Amino acid sequence: MDLFEYQAKQLFAEYGVPVPQGKVASTAAEARAIADEFAAAGKQRVVVKAQVKTGGRGKAGGVKVADGPEDAQAKAEQILGMDIKGHTVHRVLVEEASDIAEEYYFSFLLDRANRTFLSICSAEGGVEIEEVAETNPDAVAKIAIDPLTGAPADVAAEIAKAGKLPETAAAGAAEVITKLWDAFVGKDATLVEVNPLILTSDGRVIALDGKVTLDANAEFRQDLDSLAVAEEGDPLEVKAKEKGLNYVKLDGQVGIIGNGAGLVMSTLDVVAYAGEEHGGVKPANFLDIGGGASAEVMANGLEIILGDPAVESVFVNVFGGITACDAVANGIVQALELLEGRGDDVSKPLVVRLDGNNAELGRQILTERAHPAVRQVDTMDGAAAQAAELAAK
Ligand SMILES: Nc1ncnc2c1ncn2[C@@H]1O[C@H](COP(=O)(O)OP(=O)(O)O)[C@@H](O)[C@H]1O
Ligand SMILES: [Mg+2]
Repeated sequence: MDLFEYQAKQLFAEYGVPVPQGKVASTAAEARAIADEFAAAGKQRVVVKAQVKTGGRGKAGGVKVADGPEDAQAKAEQILGMDIKGHTVHRVLVEEASDIAEEYYFSFLLDRANRTFLSICSAEGGVEIEEVAETNPDAVAKIAIDPLTGAPADVAAEIAKAGKLPETAAAGAAEVITKLWDAFVGKDATLVEVNPLILTSDGRVIALDGKVTLDANAEFRQDLDSLAVAEEGDPLEVKAKEKGLNYVKLDGQVGIIGNGAGLVMSTLDVVAYAGEEHGGVKPANFLDIGGGASAEVMANGLEIILGDPAVESVFVNVFGGITACDAVANGIVQALELLEGRGDDVSKPLVVRLDGNNAELGRQILTERAHPAVRQVDTMDGAAAQAAELAAK
């Protein structure tokens, strides 16, 4: 789970990492009020920053310096509603402008390829680190972190030195690095990135930007819910998440339901392939209903998919395992009854392919029920072709 910059900075502050003072606004008037507070405290210059979960906001015009409250309001007006790499700006962070002497780069991350944690440090920050690594690889230090040792003072000092941070910044940076490691471990993060980490003209080291990814597998011991910002993402994805479904919206016309992530992924492939013969129709979503596909889970899945106006047909692809096909077939029948009982429209064609454990019995249940929307096809390719054809009509 990725955090917004303002959330990352709140987390940094919790661990004692110096960050600029700032507050979040969702309207230009709010932005002005925040700038008013800064002005009253003698801080006229503020920076208005788009809060979107993507980098390169500065380059895209999403980070603007404002001279006073009126200007802050004008800058917020420009930035709110802006589209940055497909992300709409709903909020801005209004923070005190820092007096930057130098910009550095620092991060901790989980290095899966080398089965370790890694720190990356460079005196050439502020710009994209991938770019620096390409044009000037010697300027980017990569140091593996022993998880048992972490980053105490001596390790942190070594990292700052390897990154060629100047003498004036080394001690302050090392302190920040140790605190960032504590945050990284304490919050079960897989990435903590500060770009730029700055040296101010009066010699302080401050985190001016923050990118944090938290490990969703640590949900049992972390309060991730409080960090999830409500209106973020596609409305169908938000609804699916509320219902505990593994759903990803795509931009095609064939709704997909399957059990098991691998089966669903290959279902997307065969549908996209079959769709080439039918005017290029594509899968409308990824939805894995998992092993124990109860009627309720099936109904929730169908409800989300049929609620997508782009969907023209649905492909239910199930391989019976521990949950046998007859249970899944009963789930489909009950799900349709449940949705019809609620007055939902279930007239879009449902192509069902059942295979595996108790497939015969499952098919028989669907045949006997003879729901007008349901048609059965025995093979995955055949069912994909039919679902694509129906979607194209
Ligand atoms: N509070 C601030 N005070 C002064 N300059 C800032 C401030 N925040 C950002 N900047 C400047 O804007 C640049 C881009 O901001 P940053 O937060 O890194 O966004 P992004 O990485 O998405 O472009 C920084 O490298 C820095 O030069
Ligand atoms: Mg940045």
